[in-house]
Amino acid sequence: MGFSTTAIHAGNEPDPTTGAVTVPIYQTSTFAQDGLGKPRQGYEYARTQNPTRIALERNLAALEGARFGYAFASGMAAIDATLRLVKGGEHVVVSDNTYGGTFRLFSRILSQYNIEFTFVDTSDASNVEAALKENTRMVFIETPTNPVMIVSDMRAVSEVAHRVGARVVCDNTFMSPYLQRPMEFGVDIVVHSTTKYLNGHSDGVGGVVLLNDERDAEWIQFVQNSVGAILSPFDAFLVLRGTKTLALRMEQHDRSGRAVAAFLEEHPKVQKIYYPGSVSHRQHELAKRQQKGFGGMVAFDVGSLEAARTVLESVKLCTLAESLGGVETLISHPATMTHASVLPETRAGIGITDGLVRISVGLEDTDDIIADLDQALDKVK
Ligand SMILES: Cc1ncc(COP(=O)(O)O)c(C=O)c1O
Repeated sequence: MGFSTTAIHAGNEPDPTTGAVTVPIYQTSTFAQDGLGKPRQGYEYARTQNPTRIALERNLAALEGARFGYAFASGMAAIDATLRLVKGGEHVVVSDNTYGGTFRLFSRILSQYNIEFTFVDTSDASNVEAALKENTRMVFIETPTNPVMIVSDMRAVSEVAHRVGARVVCDNTFMSPYLQRPMEFGVDIVVHSTTKYLNGHSDGVGGVVLLNDERDAEWIQFVQNSVGAILSPFDAFLVLRGTKTLALRMEQHDRSGRAVAAFLEEHPKVQKIYYPGSVSHRQHELAKRQQKGFGGMVAFDVGSLEAARTVLESVKLCTLAESLGGVETLISHPATMTHASVLPETRAGIGITDGLVRISVGLEDTDDIIADLDQALDKVK
């Protein structure tokens, strides 16, 4: 089956009780039982199982080519659940410019529970190899990274990690399974903030963990039920609706992303762009090998906080806001917004300067997006 056929049908069987073609929102906390220990259709309590959430979990697992999927209340809850596969006294290697919230969870919270983290530039697998220890149980990568679009070679990283028996996790939020399927390159676990492209309409927060190993899957399910950071039925419904158009949306995000990047690259007020689709990106060839396209995320540097502020406060169509992956073009300032929790010296080291602006290119007409950026950049002195 092709991607869109899977997106429209996997997990989306007509409802067994009414024949409803769209999976209903099962807005219930509990399910009637026919006798002691006899749940009517296998459902007991909605933290443990909910039919809308299970439909979404099957849908997302099919899209990533995974056997199991578990949906959570946010991308961060999904990442936190994934890290429960690691115990105190064990070690994790992480991309050094992950999303700021991931960095915060690892460095400020989980490190308090005796899990050790080493942050390295995972774009070079030899850095991962050098950071591995006897007790390394996980390598966590994000590719491309948020926001400076560094690409990690998933096959090379998986090879070195697997040599010491460490699981490889990839945060695939930026690409979505339409543009990148990490498991095809040896990655063991894929996580997403479904808040972004999978939902696609900026109207819900959620996350998912997708994996193949049965024992790890059992543990993630146990964590999901025990901790209880589950995705609500309504939010599950919204993501299910979102993935039906994922291929179409990603095609257009990709088309407009290429046009916006080409415009920015030529603009005299732009000092540097970060976009793996550009031949000037040092990992363009790698990105082409492991991605089907480049998506809608483009970052660019206008040289100073003042210039960035001018652009961010002059746009009229683009909305100044955190987040990404929705139908509307969002523009943001990573240093003070998404990556404010990363130490200034760390930020500088990975290119998140005060002049850096990030755009999530939406689905408006491409010319309108470019015209808006053009008039905003014209105001930079
Ligand atoms: C790459 C990436 N991973 C994870 C997250 C966290 O997801 P959520 O905001 O749904 O908790 C984000 C949020 O911006 C993100 O950009």
